[in-house]
Amino acid sequence: QVSQALKSIARNEHIKSYIQKSNELYPLLLQAAQRFVTGEHKKDGIVTAKELISRGYFISLEYIGENTTDLEECRKAKNEFLNLIEEMGSLSMKQTISLDLSHIGLAVNSETAYIQLLEMAKKANLYGITLMISMEESSKTSDILDIYKKTTEQYPNVGVTIQAHLYRSYNDIQELIHYPGKIRVVKGAYQEPVDIAMSRSKELNNRYLKLVQQLIEADHSVSIATHDEMLIQEMEHRQYLNQPHVEMEMLYGVRPDLLRNLKRKEYNCKVYLTYGKEWYLYLCHRIAEYPENLYSVVTDIINP
Ligand code: FDA
Repeated sequence: QVSQALKSIARNEHIKSYIQKSNELYPLLLQAAQRFVTGEHKKDGIVTAKELISRGYFISLEYIGENTTDLEECRKAKNEFLNLIEEMGSLSMKQTISLDLSHIGLAVNSETAYIQLLEMAKKANLYGITLMISMEESSKTSDILDIYKKTTEQYPNVGVTIQAHLYRSYNDIQELIHYPGKIRVVKGAYQEPVDIAMSRSKELNNRYLKLVQQLIEADHSVSIATHDEMLIQEMEHRQYLNQPHVEMEMLYGVRPDLLRNLKRKEYNCKVYLTYGKEWYLYLCHRIAEYPENLYSVVTDIINP
């Protein structure tokens, strides 16, 4: 319930516009958000990306946004991504860009998202950049996978995220291993009906392991995206992490100590970075996922 409430707050236009207009609250919240978000502008993401790359990490950079229903806004978002691809390309950053399809057109219709993604994939391919599609609410899963499949057949530099908490994911992976793109496995951040998804539990961790095993046995490129220490230890024990087509990926600002330790062991380690004016949405997601973060945000506001 807390998580749903926070997501509703994040999407509430009145609250958003109040915060944006508040000269006091806006900078304080932005400062608190910077624990998880690099900043509001592309250059903020690029600066942090460069720094992490120089320390031996891979990076995945997202321009934050989702559920854009206005076609013109979707085009603007796509253009921002195209500029990001060009800038990373000009810096020879052969890294990853992450995106929500609902940011570039899925909330309008599937065809729009597909056409815009194709344009991005073509340009990214020229520069050796990977595009990683995030997974959204279960009502969008089939559309996202359909768009992914059509795109990765033409541009193998496009990958997709799969949520372990959905019961359908095992069968989805059975099919996806026949496509070339990388698969990122996450637990799943959205509240879903109990008949289609499981909540955080030992059962979910077992399911997560099973999906990763499925990909490793198929010799498929995989990004293991979790901060769960027990799960990571088990995968290390099973020798999953030292394979060349496997990487560990964590969110910027969440368990950097854990990722650093894994990098010391010479595993492929990637940091998921974000930037954009919609940082407020992203901050709410991180608090919803882990309500203890609310405490650090409040502390940051009280002691800026
Ligand atoms: P779990 O939630 O069990 O947390 C394990 C531990 O990690 C916690 O005890 C805590 O120590 C730490 N932790 C986790 N989240 C934290 C946070 N926000 N702040 C501070 N500490 C935290 N989801 C989705 O539905 N679609 C997607 O496309 C993506 N994409 C994505 C990319 C990457 C790179 C990552 C790492 C995650 C996602 N997610 C996602 C989010 C994912 O589904 C999940 O909600 C979070 O990763 C948290 O789950 P964990 O696997 O970390 O385990």
